[in-house]
Amino acid sequence: MGLELFLYLTAGLLGLRSLLVSSAPIDNRPQSIYVPSVGKFWHISDLHLDPTYHVTDDHTKVCFSSKGHPASNPGEFGDFMCDSPYNLILSALEFMRQADPTPEFIIWTGDSPPHVPAKQLSTDMVISIISNMTHTIRSFFPDLPVYPALGNHDYWPQDQFPVSTNEIYQAAASLWEPWLKPEALLTLRNGGFYSKVVAPSLRLVSLNTNLYYSPNKETVNMTDPAGQFQWLVDTLEASRQSQEKVYIIAHVPVGYLPYAIRTTAVREVYNERMVEIFRAYSDVVAGQFYGHTHRDSIMVLLDHQGQPVNSLFVTPAVTPIKDALEPYSNNPGVRMYLYSTQDYSMLDIWQYYLNLTEANSEQKPSWKLEYIMTEAFDIEDIEPRALHKLALSFEKPQSKTFQKYFSHFMVGYNDSIVCEAFCKLIQVCAVQFLDHESYSKCIKKGNQGNGL
Ligand SMILES: *[C@@H]1O[C@H](CO)[C@@H](O)[C@H](O)[C@H]1NC(C)=O
Ligand SMILES: *[C@@H]1O[C@H](CO)[C@@H](O)[C@H](O)[C@H]1NC(C)=O
Ligand SMILES: *[C@@H]1O[C@H](CO)[C@@H](O)[C@H](O)[C@H]1NC(C)=O
Ligand SMILES: *[C@@H]1O[C@H](CO)[C@@H](O)[C@H](O)[C@H]1NC(C)=O
Ligand SMILES: [Zn+2]
Ligand SMILES: [Zn+2]
Repeated sequence: MGLELFLYLTAGLLGLRSLLVSSAPIDNRPQSIYVPSVGKFWHISDLHLDPTYHVTDDHTKVCFSSKGHPASNPGEFGDFMCDSPYNLILSALEFMRQADPTPEFIIWTGDSPPHVPAKQLSTDMVISIISNMTHTIRSFFPDLPVYPALGNHDYWPQDQFPVSTNEIYQAAASLWEPWLKPEALLTLRNGGFYSKVVAPSLRLVSLNTNLYYSPNKETVNMTDPAGQFQWLVDTLEASRQSQEKVYIIAHVPVGYLPYAIRTTAVREVYNERMVEIFRAYSDVVAGQFYGHTHRDSIMVLLDHQGQPVNSLFVTPAVTPIKDALEPYSNNPGVRMYLYSTQDYSMLDIWQYYLNLTEANSEQKPSWKLEYIMTEAFDIEDIEPRALHKLALSFEKPQSKTFQKYFSHFMVGYNDSIVCEAFCKLIQVCAVQFLDHESYSKCIKKGNQGNGL
């Protein structure tokens, strides 16, 4: 363990993190006390505002997003059958401002409108909800840049993102103008994606993976919707030439869904293409950040030799909604990432949550720390090597680390739910195997009974 990391961990245990993560320039400090410079950014995703949410005695009428199913235990801060009441979103942002008002930036990976049938929304309503969320976030952090990515619900009809300019890309570009540069706004207006230098030698790439999402009928049979693959490769190549590091953000993640067998979130052909691009540029990409599944999960990209080359993070949602048929949900969550400002390597995650049941019964939203990644799993950092070691530990029978990982997957929704056999197999394969060939092998090996 390096001295830097040791000091960082020790200070962490003593509760001195705020000291280390201060933004004082490092060269003003005495040379003998080597303090790492740690940058931080918030990540929020899947806010899914439901403006119809209101507590009422008839539980089928609490929110349109329950689609006629009764709410389970509705209160001021929401219900597991419903999308977010405005108060839940306010409580999340208020907590973030209180916990750390001055991170380097915020990433926001999309999905603002509620889960309701298409006929209950319209292009204007979707734009108005994205506008509401944009202004709400900005009111809490007026001086901080926020880097958004569009989610599959940020369109009308949902999922049907087109490959050229339209009212919604235009609206997003004008709403997000305060946070972005003209070059970024140009590609955002045309294809819903952009890149921007966000720190010295650090570029953020915001992809519109909704173009690749399986239910999108607009892009069926296209080899390169909106030319985004070509643009991505060109962008990563230029970053390599100028020795920049890149953080990738997007809504729909690459790889396999951890709760469904043999199912990629994007169409399989696009998934293969993304995996190949990320392998080819794994020296440039320093981290990948997604939303969409509403659950907390990790992936580690392996190269063709099986060596870990990239860390990928899927953040849990702010909305607690679950489908009527789903066995479980998630408590609302927001997170902070810590990274090295020297090489942009990923150091840690501080995951926060709201215990929804408790918040409703106490009529007070007490957001709390759920876990610190390096402490919860006893790993040095969250770089590919550390995540790979963790992923391998999940494979052991009765793995304690896997049990903890699965409880965090649901953001502590219900610790009595166990994930074994098939449930565990598809989780574990999804963490390590992002392409068709290696994933299929993992599933096949698991089905032959290797202890999973
Ligand atoms: C956002 O929507 C909520 C709920 O409908 C409303 O109370 C609030 O005033 C809106 N805020 C903005 C900034 O549009
Ligand atoms: C896509 O390609 C398949 C196979 O060539 C074809 O059957 C189908 O009609 C095409 N769909 C569209 C929307 O172009
Ligand atoms: C949430 O609060 C409920 C009720 O107070 C409690 O039973 C449950 O264990 C809590 N869950 C978590 C993850 O803190
Ligand atoms: C938690 O999960 C257990 C096991 O599946 C189930 O019996 C119990 O009803 C669940 N509790 C809640 C509050 O949903
Ligand atoms: Zn969502
Ligand atoms: Zn989504």
